[in-house]
Amino acid sequence: MTAPKKLFIKTYGCQMNVYDSERMAEALGGQGYVETKTADDADMILLNTCHIREKAAEKVYSELGRFKGLKAEKPDLKIGVAGCVAQAEGEEIMRRQPLVDLVVGPQSYHRLPELEAKTRTGEKALDTDFPEEDKFEKLKSRPKAKRGPTAFLTVQEGCDKFCAFCVVPYTRGAEVSRPVDRILTEARDLVERGVREITLLGQNVNAYHGAGADGSDWSLAQLIWALDKVDGLERIRFTTSHPNDMTDDLIEAHGACAKLMPYLHLPVQSGSDKILKRMNRSHTAESYLRVIERIRAARPDILLSGDFIVGFPEETEADFQATLDLVEEVNYGYAYSFKYSTRPGTPAAERAQVDEAESSERLQRLQALITRQQRAIQDAMVGRDVSVLFEKPGRIDGQMVGKSDYLHSVHVRDAGKEIGEIARVRIVESVTNSLAGVILK
Ligand code: SAH
Ligand code: SF4
Ligand code: F3S
Repeated sequence: MTAPKKLFIKTYGCQMNVYDSERMAEALGGQGYVETKTADDADMILLNTCHIREKAAEKVYSELGRFKGLKAEKPDLKIGVAGCVAQAEGEEIMRRQPLVDLVVGPQSYHRLPELEAKTRTGEKALDTDFPEEDKFEKLKSRPKAKRGPTAFLTVQEGCDKFCAFCVVPYTRGAEVSRPVDRILTEARDLVERGVREITLLGQNVNAYHGAGADGSDWSLAQLIWALDKVDGLERIRFTTSHPNDMTDDLIEAHGACAKLMPYLHLPVQSGSDKILKRMNRSHTAESYLRVIERIRAARPDILLSGDFIVGFPEETEADFQATLDLVEEVNYGYAYSFKYSTRPGTPAAERAQVDEAESSERLQRLQALITRQQRAIQDAMVGRDVSVLFEKPGRIDGQMVGKSDYLHSVHVRDAGKEIGEIARVRIVESVTNSLAGVILK
C-alpha cells in the first residue's frame, strides 16, 4: 500500500470558507489525501481565500511567495487557490504566481477531484464556472468520523443584494438555497457524530427559501422549527442576516424556539441614511432600529452584533456621527468594524474616496465605543446563570472552556464535564475576553 498523500488547507475569510474547507478536505479524502497541519510535509497545499478587503486578497500572494522554497525541494508538490480570490482573479493568479497549479472558484468544489487529477499529469487546472448543479450534493458526503460539538452547515449561498462596496455577489454568484431534506439529513448526520450545536450559514441566511418536502418554498424560520425536532441537537444559530429579511416568523422563532440561541448578527454598515442609500443597502437607520425593537420585544435578552464600514465614499463627519448615534441606541454585545476598502469592479470603487487619515481616526472612535459597549454587556453577565456548551479543556488542569447561549467564552474550573456536555453555569467574574463561572448543581 502506498502512503496517503498529505493535504494542507489554509482558510481565510468567513465561516462559509471554514465549512467549504471541511468539505474540500473530505472530497480530496476520496483521492487518498489525509489532512496535515503544516505546509512543510504536504503533497498538496490549498489556500481557501477571501476577497472582501484589499488586505485579505494581498495576503494570498505573499503566502504563495513563501512556498517557493518548498516547491523547489519537492517538485511534485501541488499548490491550489480556492475561494473568493480564485473566483475574482481566475487565471490572473497563475500569471502573477506561476507556482500555482490549480485555481478553483467556490461554486466548482465538487469538481476538485478531477482538477486534482489533472494537475498530477503536469497540467494546470482552472475552474471558475457557476454551474447549475448543487455542489454540496455532488461533494462526497461527510465521513462518519466523530467530531467536535459545534459545526457549521451552509444552507444558502450567494447574494443578490449588490451593496455598492461588496464583492460577494460577484465571487459567490446569485442567491441559491439548498433543499430542506438535504439540510436535515446533514444535520442528523452531524448530530450522530457528536455535534450539539449547528450554525446555519448563508451570505443572506435569513433570505433562505429552500424547497421543502411538500414542494413549497420554506423560510428560514420553518427550517429552524424542523431542526428543533432533531433529537440530540441542542442549539441552533444562524449567520449572516440582512435587516430587510427579518421576517415576522423568524422574529417569532426567537421568542418561541428554545433551541434557537439568543444571539443575532445583524449588520447595518452605517447609521446615515444618505450613506446607506449610496451603499444600496435598501434599509434606513430608522427601519433597522424598528427591526431591532421587534426582535427585542420577542426576545428581550437577545445579544446583538453588527458590522460597520467607516470612510465609505462621501462619508462626512456628520454621517459618521449618525453611525455613532445608532451604535449608542442599539447597544451591541459584539460588533465588527472595518475601514472601507476599494474593491475593483464594485460601483463604489469609482467614487470620490474619503481621506485615509480621516477614515483611520473614525475607525478608532467607533471601535472605542464598541469596545466599551461589549465590555459593559460582558461585565453585566456577572451574577447571571447561563447555559454553557463545553468545547475544549482550558489551560489549567480540570478547567473546561465553552460558549454561553450568548456566545461569550466561559471557563469553569473543576468543571467535571466532558466536551459536548451542556451545563447551567453561574458567572462569577468577567475577564478581558471571557467570563469565569461555576457549575450550578
Ligand atoms: N453577507 C454578509 C457579510 C458580508 S462580508 C452581510 O451581508 O453582512 C462581512 C462584512 O465585511 C460586511 O458586513 C461589511 O461590513 C464588510 N465589508 C464588505 N465589503 C467591504 C469593503 N469593500 N470594505 C470594507 N468592509 C467591507
Ligand atoms: Fe455583500 Fe451586501 Fe450581499 Fe452582504 S448583503 S454579501 S454586504 S452585497
Ligand atoms: Fe471573504 Fe468570500 Fe467570505 S470574499 S468574507 S470568503 S464570501
